[in-house]
Amino acid sequence: KKGLNDYAKKAGKLYFGTAADVPGTNETTDKYYRAELANRDDWGQVTPANAMKWVFTEPEQGVFNYTEAETFLADAAPPGRLVRCHNLNWYNQLPNWLTSGTWGKANLTAVLENHVTNLVKHFGDRCYAWDVVNEALSDSGTGNLADNSTWRSDIWFNTIGPEYVAIAFKAAEAAVKANKLSVKLYYNDYNIESAGNKSTAAQALVKSLKDAKIQIDGVGLQSHFIVGETPSRAAQSANMQAFASLNVDVAITELDIRAEVPPTAAAQQQQVLDYESSVGACADVDACVGITAWDFDDSYSWIPSTFPGQGYGDLFFQPGGYNTPLVRKAAYD
Ligand code: XIL
Repeated sequence: KKGLNDYAKKAGKLYFGTAADVPGTNETTDKYYRAELANRDDWGQVTPANAMKWVFTEPEQGVFNYTEAETFLADAAPPGRLVRCHNLNWYNQLPNWLTSGTWGKANLTAVLENHVTNLVKHFGDRCYAWDVVNEALSDSGTGNLADNSTWRSDIWFNTIGPEYVAIAFKAAEAAVKANKLSVKLYYNDYNIESAGNKSTAAQALVKSLKDAKIQIDGVGLQSHFIVGETPSRAAQSANMQAFASLNVDVAITELDIRAEVPPTAAAQQQQVLDYESSVGACADVDACVGITAWDFDDSYSWIPSTFPGQGYGDLFFQPGGYNTPLVRKAAYD
């Protein structure tokens, strides 16, 4: 046994995993990519990078479509592999009927509750965890939940107000109870991986849900980092500990560490140290249950299209391009 998931288990963690985008892209037909995705020694957990998002799962109001998600699960989630289900509420990748509708607080709340209730029930205990709310906080807040600037200005906040987060978690909790599930409910965000106003706000959010006796089991630290700017192992583990002391699990949910492409030799070396900081921090903190890479092959990473000029964020690359052998980077070891 010598894969990433094996090492994670040896370190007392539940899993090392990856996001994947099958079906629907070249990933689906690249046989070298697919062989690595099937590698149980490396990947003990999977997250659908897109298939469970609102635009796919409720393409028309009240009409649920689980085709993409079921294809993903059949393909990437054989028995014994954990699934982090992603996500129930986000501002992005919403269907047109939702973004272009004219909503008041009451009817958008009903839309949110109906979506959460349906998805939690449909996937049931096939989800180890759900990212219930994704990216609710702004990057320029004060850390105080009472300040509007702390919240992302999106359809949910602007129509319902900050209580939409509690509404989503309450609906998820009710569905967990009604269907007798054991799925863990997570808040997931980026830029909350080390101390700062956004992490402070996320901690306050956890506290506010706990104070209201609403179920929240964990916080997902996305960890989309930049080579050379990754928080140190000590900074990451102290931040994880701050969440853990609120009585929630933490997980690294979307790890990638990008650089300008082509990467310099120095950047390639630094990436190894930066991966070590994240993996080491999770190893240091008992409440850190596992690590998910946001896909494992640079060929299929979201980075180049989102951050032009950047890439090289994942643990493998394909020097020969599509449908050629994958090569492990030094960071893998
Ligand atoms: C990304 C996917 O990887 C892309 O394929 C898609 O086009 C956009 O979304 N934070 C998240 C993820 O929580 O859902 C995002 O995934 C990456 C940033």
